[in-house]
Amino acid sequence: MKVDGVVQDNADYGSTVQTLIDIQTELKSQYKQTEDAANQLKTLLDGFRSNLENVENLTSCCFNLPVIYAITPTYQRPVQKAELTRLSHTFRLIPNFYWIIVEDNQSPTNLIANLLKNSKLNYTHLVAPTPTSWKRKLKEPKWKKPRGVAQRNTALKWLRENRNRSSDCGVIYFADDDNTYDLQLFNEMRFIKKVGVWPVGLVGGLMVERPIIDAASGKVIGWNSHWRPERDFPIDMAGFAVNLPFLLSKPEAEFSFNVERGFQESSLLSQLVALDELEPRANNCTKVYVWHTRTEEANLNDEKALRRQGKRSDENIEV
Ligand SMILES: *[C@@H]1O[C@H](CO)[C@@H](O)[C@H](O)[C@H]1NC(C)=O
Repeated sequence: MKVDGVVQDNADYGSTVQTLIDIQTELKSQYKQTEDAANQLKTLLDGFRSNLENVENLTSCCFNLPVIYAITPTYQRPVQKAELTRLSHTFRLIPNFYWIIVEDNQSPTNLIANLLKNSKLNYTHLVAPTPTSWKRKLKEPKWKKPRGVAQRNTALKWLRENRNRSSDCGVIYFADDDNTYDLQLFNEMRFIKKVGVWPVGLVGGLMVERPIIDAASGKVIGWNSHWRPERDFPIDMAGFAVNLPFLLSKPEAEFSFNVERGFQESSLLSQLVALDELEPRANNCTKVYVWHTRTEEANLNDEKALRRQGKRSDENIEV
């Protein structure tokens, strides 16, 4: 018998056994080294896979036109239907568009359900009542309490549950129902990779609030805001959009009731990007394509008088 070059001598069992033990030890140590190397390779491969996934998330859908998801919180008030009608007619002109309306209500209203049905848009109709402690009290000014928090978060939750990071391509925009939108705005935002920003007209006490762009690098280096300029991202809700797969890759990011007033946008963006990652749009933030217009409250003095007599002008007619 020949084992690894050692000639077996019948009389020398002992040394053969020793040789076999040595070989076994050597094999064990080689096995251990191979196992370590395999584990290292596996770790490398896992890292590589996750990087590849990130790349795919950002590129997989580039063959299709990314969908624009507009999230619109809304609440019952006399001008509601007028505002949403105007908005829906802007949205009808946008290709690959999806509207997520979230009512501040216990249950969906017929007014919104019918408006959406007639809108010819792709849509999802959600409800999210603002918690009682965060509801605006009568006569309390509008800015006192954060608005739209529960509604916007409900829309984000819907997207997380119904859209897929690796196969759904799109961009998310928080489109309030009282702003004015130039159609060019939607061309600007469609191919954003993470977070895009642009100027907003008639907001923050200024004619225009906008990011300041460094001419050499083309990056955002600051803001022109006067109101609370110490915010990390002093920007209005209408002034940015977020890539959908990118947002889905940040499962915890959302709006919060527990931030100071006016810090909603800043607190969300801080969870998503750093300043130098922002993608300036609208010709390096030199064009205004959205305005923070506010509709004057309707004068309903006579309606109130009617209702005191148990009558109303909108009996059997939706306004
Ligand atoms: C924006 O500014 C950068 C840097 O100055 C420049 O390279 C780029 O062409 C500009 N883009 C537009 C759309 O003007």
